[in-house]
Amino acid sequence: MTVVAIDGPSGVGKSTVGKALAARLGVPYLDTGAMYRAIGLLARRNGIGLPIGDPERVADLCERAEVRVTGAGGDARTFLDGEDVSVEIREPEVSRYASAVAAIPRVRRRLAARQREMALAGGGVLEGRDIGTKVVPEATAKFFLTARPEIRARRRFDELLRKGTPQDLGAVRAEMEARDRADSSRADSPLSCDETYVVVDTSDMNAEEVAERLQELVAGARAG
Ligand code: DC
Repeated sequence: MTVVAIDGPSGVGKSTVGKALAARLGVPYLDTGAMYRAIGLLARRNGIGLPIGDPERVADLCERAEVRVTGAGGDARTFLDGEDVSVEIREPEVSRYASAVAAIPRVRRRLAARQREMALAGGGVLEGRDIGTKVVPEATAKFFLTARPEIRARRRFDELLRKGTPQDLGAVRAEMEARDRADSSRADSPLSCDETYVVVDTSDMNAEEVAERLQELVAGARAG
């Protein structure tokens, strides 16, 4: 069974590369950030404000909710209690909620357990912040993607433009850097990488080039 972990900050190309790599390997693609986004959306829908004052309430909501992500053939969808929330979870405000709920240990325990279950059931390319450190430390291969901040901001900016929700480039960059700081400095499972990862700088590569490189490295890891 093949389990590939792709971790790294936002806007680095994890989703595009993850989907392309999963298609190449013929395994499911699992966007774990989408699960934190769904719980962020759930918190917002329940009238919880930011910063979150009552994390236990969010954890209770999370434990009662059913979050499902599906990913095959480049079509990744996210369901919250049976409702397709794939579009709504991409709203910038939901990004802030996602980062906030992701700092709650009970939320992380619950979602990470689901992610691990899915990975061990059918293999997959899992994309997130703590996949190789916490969720599936025994993964076949672990990649930490990086890119220069201006490139990451530009990628996120282009993505928002494509989706018909354009935003100011400076604001996109500021928001992205604030979220990365929060994700890297939280106490529980911060974004981090260790010597078991291969670090790949994607600044000057397109997604297919990165996917191809990772595919070679996975083949090497399987052989070795
Ligand atoms: O990858 P993304 O931007 O969709 O993730 C949304 C938020 O969820 C991000 O701010 C960090 C958090 N996250 C996490 O803490 N652990 C993961 N495995 C995936 C995402």
